[in-house]
Amino acid sequence: MKNNLHKHVAYVYDAIAGVYQQTITQPTDHLDDFLAMLPSGASILDAGCGIGTDAGYMSEKGHRVCGLDLSPGMLEIAEKTHLRVTFCLQDLQDPDFSAGSFHGVVASFSLIHIRKDQVIPTLQKYHELLTPDGFMFLALQSGRSQEVFLKEPYKPDETTFLNIFSLDEVQHVLSRSGFNILQSWRRRPDAVKEFDFTKLFVVAQKQ
Ligand SMILES: C[S@@+](CC[C@H](N)C(=O)[O-])C[C@H]1O[C@@H](n2cnc3c(N)ncnc32)[C@H](O)[C@@H]1O
Repeated sequence: MKNNLHKHVAYVYDAIAGVYQQTITQPTDHLDDFLAMLPSGASILDAGCGIGTDAGYMSEKGHRVCGLDLSPGMLEIAEKTHLRVTFCLQDLQDPDFSAGSFHGVVASFSLIHIRKDQVIPTLQKYHELLTPDGFMFLALQSGRSQEVFLKEPYKPDETTFLNIFSLDEVQHVLSRSGFNILQSWRRRPDAVKEFDFTKLFVVAQKQ
């Protein structure tokens, strides 16, 4: 594991894995818009898959899905719940797969936990993992540009590191990493009241 941030992410998500299992039962908004771009039986990487809700959903739709995460606790639930998905303990900043392995890469509320200066290098790795013209699905928090430690809603005695990107920054990091944005949607979160951001969902294509 790379640094203290990684250890802390794994620690916090291990601790809240059970709550996630009770709570995150539906796939991420707009995941279907991304799936509509892919061929049938596509190969998809879910980077920061958590308990595997999206991965399982995509697998049920007939795709070949591989989910990776840093939290053994999240992965344990994912493996027990979604038997047709391959899960592995990996850092989403350093995915260990061959170039061109995937038609699509999903990063749903996972890149939010890495330092901003690591986002472009990470997206560039996903670019390399994709087939020519492959697709990327991103879900993240958007708002005033910042890096913060925010109280974890499911474990209020802990904080988690979050990066918040402005809309301009999202466009910038995707284009610097070699992606064209095809579609995007914004939605205000239901729960987090003390912090001002919107949820942003993006489908982008490898240039
Ligand atoms: C907010 S949860 C989202 C889970 C899932 N993608 C979803 O949308 O329900 C963030 C997930 O990203 C994982 N994560 C954060 N940083 C990571 C890293 N560097 N490498 C792998 N997984 C990471 C966490 O362990 C956690 O499971």
